[in-house]
Amino acid sequence: MAASTNILETIGNTPMVEVRSFDTGPCRLFLKLENQNPGGSIKDRPALSMVEAAERSGAIGPGGTLIEATAGNTGIGLALVARQKGYRLLLVIPDKMSQEKIFNLQAMGAEIRLTRSDVTRGHPEYYQDLASRLADETANSFFVNQFGNPANPLAHEQGTGPEIWEQMDHKVDAVVCGVGSGGTITGIGRFLARQAPHVEMILADPLGSVLADQVNTGTPGPLGSWLVEGIGEDFIPEVSDLSLVSKAYKVADAEAFAAARKLLVDEGILAGSSSGTLLAGALAFCREQGDEKNVVTLVCDSGNKYLSKMYNDYWMLDQGFLERESHGDLRDLIARPHADRASVTTSPDDTLAAALSRMKLYDISQLPVLADDNVVGIIDESDILWAIHRRHGAFTDHVASAMSVSPETVEATSDIDTLMTIFRRDLTAIVVDGDAYLGVITRIDLLNWLRRQDPQPAS
Ligand SMILES: Cc1ncc(COP(=O)(O)O)c(C=O)c1O
Repeated sequence: MAASTNILETIGNTPMVEVRSFDTGPCRLFLKLENQNPGGSIKDRPALSMVEAAERSGAIGPGGTLIEATAGNTGIGLALVARQKGYRLLLVIPDKMSQEKIFNLQAMGAEIRLTRSDVTRGHPEYYQDLASRLADETANSFFVNQFGNPANPLAHEQGTGPEIWEQMDHKVDAVVCGVGSGGTITGIGRFLARQAPHVEMILADPLGSVLADQVNTGTPGPLGSWLVEGIGEDFIPEVSDLSLVSKAYKVADAEAFAAARKLLVDEGILAGSSSGTLLAGALAFCREQGDEKNVVTLVCDSGNKYLSKMYNDYWMLDQGFLERESHGDLRDLIARPHADRASVTTSPDDTLAAALSRMKLYDISQLPVLADDNVVGIIDESDILWAIHRRHGAFTDHVASAMSVSPETVEATSDIDTLMTIFRRDLTAIVVDGDAYLGVITRIDLLNWLRRQDPQPAS
């Protein structure tokens, strides 16, 4: 393969791979690896296409400003394109978005304008409305607006669709997509409707999104909540043409996460959460078929953005997606049981510097101090601060010199009220069985446990 002269030339032409470790009924299932685009997602394609269409129409000129409302993959794609083409990029982002996403975008040269996440369509601070207004107020600027920009589906009509057709040697029976803006499903659907109208377009939609019912019954379904990112909507996006779609599957978060985790373990593909939805939807379609069909779906983004969520067992347990053995006592509330060697502790002989860096690494403010699995104390940030304040150089002192020797312990057989009395005094509960340390319970652990007892969906 010849060298590219610019990173933008490496967008598209992504690999296709057949999956072999899943039950696909009579069908063969293929994944198009859009996570291998330079920005790590399928959104590099529409980002390039929308900017080039704006250049062609004169909507943006040299030195201009691109404005979009997103913290997601489209932002990363636009950051890539804007930098290479010499445009300023201003992204309007709701203030609930993770710091990690914002750091990622800033590191790529984007400017960020945070706005309120507690307001809806029509409010001047709603992120889409604010982006549109900023574009009106900024000279030589262009509101990219992926939800209403026809160059978004066009990227897939001219790129993703024809690539699938060629890679599959014209032997495709169905393509399974998700809908965020609807660009992907609409663009691929338009290409195939022209080229090979027998190919079925299938929607895989998060349970709680209104779109699946729109496809299956003609009326948007009831709105719920879901944790999969990048797909599912509470409205029908302007650029989407759902009349191209013959059937939709609703996929619950638990099923999506399980499919994505299995894809990583068994096929070595590190995919994002939405790819789990698409894979689970595609598998449901495959197993329903009576004869062999070639089915294609997409790995829309890389799983590296989800390492602390879907690929993190503690997060999965907190959210109730993984089960642990139940003891029927306070041990069920311990997020990181000592018995699993999962707890974060220190020993009396560790230095204060070592204890502090462990606190920072795990983002916690206190550590139980253990000697031979027995709790002998607890040390928190204030203990370390006082020790250092008293004597510079105390970082090399032992934990034993600064810890508190009478930690608040609670037996595993105690009740929730006992925990509450500890929390009311702003302390963390250290759970013991006699002298043996079992783990800590924080207020968040109790809240997570209470939420798991509640049949309401997690959000
Ligand atoms: C992470 C992610 N973003 C977005 C989309 C959907 O893209 P579109 O906006 O083209 O509907 C997908 C598709 O499955 C996705 O997985």
